[in-house]
Amino acid sequence: MISFPRGREVVLGVGAGIAAYKACDVLRRLQDHGFLVTVVPTPSSLNFVGKATWEALSGREVKSEVWEGTQAVSHVALADKADLILIAPATADLIAKLATGRADDLLTTTALATSAKMIVVPAMHPGMYLNPATQSNIETLRSRGITVLEPDYGRLTGADSGIGRFPEAARIIETVLTTSGSHGKLLGKKVVVTAGGTIEPIDPVRYIGNRSSGRQGVAIAHEALREGATVTVIAAQTEEFHLEGAKRINVQTAEQMQTILNEELLDADALVMAAAVADARPVELSHEKIGKESFERIELTRNPDVLGEAGARKRPSQIFVGFAAETGEGVKSRGLKKLHSKGVDLLYVTDVSGGRVFGELETSGSLLSKRGESWDFESADKFAVGRKIVEEIAREMEGANG
Ligand code: CTP
Repeated sequence: MISFPRGREVVLGVGAGIAAYKACDVLRRLQDHGFLVTVVPTPSSLNFVGKATWEALSGREVKSEVWEGTQAVSHVALADKADLILIAPATADLIAKLATGRADDLLTTTALATSAKMIVVPAMHPGMYLNPATQSNIETLRSRGITVLEPDYGRLTGADSGIGRFPEAARIIETVLTTSGSHGKLLGKKVVVTAGGTIEPIDPVRYIGNRSSGRQGVAIAHEALREGATVTVIAAQTEEFHLEGAKRINVQTAEQMQTILNEELLDADALVMAAAVADARPVELSHEKIGKESFERIELTRNPDVLGEAGARKRPSQIFVGFAAETGEGVKSRGLKKLHSKGVDLLYVTDVSGGRVFGELETSGSLLSKRGESWDFESADKFAVGRKIVEEIAREMEGANG
């Protein structure tokens, strides 16, 4: 099972202020940026926005009390899995509780149990916000490394105005991005990633295939999601994985992959062809198991060059990334040749001498660009390589579209 590094899980804590309804927009924007969000409203905040709304918007179960589903010990589970806790809006009472370490509902117990980074977004009447008690509590939170946003000035719920308004969602998201290390570089872009090895059946039992665990492709898909892209993974045979937030289409053969890819590419901004496509397939698929005596007579034909053919139809604004697995001397120069012959913008060439890299967590190789740049990786984590590839896709996009 492919497991993913942390970085996408956000707990959105909602306090009992009228601005709770504005947190619905914050939730949507967090999702647009590729974050997986669990909403934890305080019990009294449900007077403003109910559980049904949060469940429908987040697509996840919503709990508010520690007494719900106690067998799951929700506050500890949430505290462990969260990469970031964003409390928006935070009331004066909620801030006081956080400052004094009180914990009497799911949000405050989670906040107390976690080691995740925390952002607090106060929203309240100016009198309450400017009260020395609140200000001193905010100072306490800041002294503990918690980010507390300044509220906006302006008209409040009643007739009066002053400091205390819930900030614009864009300012909150900006703070989340800076704190989490994501940048939203692929926001609004669609990235298609192929992963794994295609399977070309000979008979009901046997097949021709290429070695590939799919780890590198899936790692790239994960990193693209973290940068806010809409991601489709076309998966051939891979290790098991579940990538939340990505559209996944399973295929078996190179021809199936090509058909799906051509459809998905119509509105795609980038393609990462990390799949190991089998170069050949049997001319005929036998519906009966073939006897050993017939092995010499299995006729093979070449599979289409999926990337090469897609490359020929590529629009100038699209960014394509190819892969090459090579052995022996001159790995990098063979990679460079393939970068040009396949018509791609970037190519990652891996040194697979002796079966290295397949199914492993680490990879050694070079990322090459059509502009002659090259980045070398020695026993690097596949997610780190994925991050670099995604970063370079975003940079190429700026160049192609700017
Ligand atoms: N590829 C493809 N269709 C194929 C073979 C390869 O789309 N039939 C893609 C791979 O997904 C990869 C890139 O082309 O992104 C290079 O793969 P590789 O197997 O090294 O390329 P080949 O053209 O098959 O070259 P070789 O003759 O060295 O096997």
